Amino acid sequence: MPIHIKASPGDIAENTIAVGDPGRVDILSGLLSNVKTVNIHRGFKIVTGLYNGKKVTIATHGVGAPSASIVFEELRQLGAKRIVRIGTTGGVRKDTRIGDVIVATGAAYTVNGCGLGQYMPGICGAASPDPVLTTRIIESMEEHGIEYKKGPVFSSDAFYAEDPSFAERLSHYGIVAVEMEAAALFALGWLRGFETACVLVVSDVLHGEEAMKKYLTTEELAEVFLKVAKL
Ligand code: HPA
Repeated sequence: MPIHIKASPGDIAENTIAVGDPGRVDILSGLLSNVKTVNIHRGFKIVTGLYNGKKVTIATHGVGAPSASIVFEELRQLGAKRIVRIGTTGGVRKDTRIGDVIVATGAAYTVNGCGLGQYMPGICGAASPDPVLTTRIIESMEEHGIEYKKGPVFSSDAFYAEDPSFAERLSHYGIVAVEMEAAALFALGWLRGFETACVLVVSDVLHGEEAMKKYLTTEELAEVFLKVAKL
C-alpha cells in the first residue's frame, strides 16, 4: 500500500480522472454508479465506480506539482494506465473567456520547475500529453458540439506571483492559459509509462478588465466540468 493513498490495487481503475479539489470529486462522482470511496487519507478523496459499465476512478491531486506528482505516482503504482486531469485555469491569451474549455497540447514550466528538476536533473522533461488520447478527446468534443480552444499551457509553481504583465509575456510565448500541474502530469506519464491528457475550464483571466478580479468556483463551473468529465 502506498504512503499517501491508502488503497489497494483493485481499488483503482485503469482509467482515472484527476482533479485538484476534493469538492470536484463529489461533483463528478454523481456521474458514476456503484461508487466506492477508496481513499480519504491526506485529504486526497478518491472514488471508484462505473460509468456506462466501465470502471473509472476519480481522484483528488491537491494543488501544485509536488502534491499532484505524489498522487500521479501512487495512482500508477495502484494500476492506473491513463490519467486525465480536469482542472481550472487562468486565461492569458486575449481571446480566453471565463467558462472556456481548453485542451492542453503541452505545458511549459520554469527551469527546474514543477518538481521536474529533481526527477530529471539537467533535462527539461517532455511535458506533452499522449497525442492519441488528446486527439480522441478533441474528436469527442467535436462530435458532441462542445466548443474548445487548444494549445500549450504554463504550469506555475507560484499562484500569487502571477500578474497581468507576466500573463502578457506568457501569451507572447504562445501560451493559452496558466495552471499548476499539467507539466508534472505529462512528464511523469512519459517517465513512468502511463497515458496523460489535460482538459481545463477557465475560472479566471489574467488579461483585460477582468484580470485577477473574478474567480469562479468549481460549483459555479459545475455544469461545464460535468460536460467535460462525461467525454
Ligand atoms: N493561475 C494558476 N492556476 C490557476 C489559475 C491561475 O490564474 N486559475 C486556475 N488555476
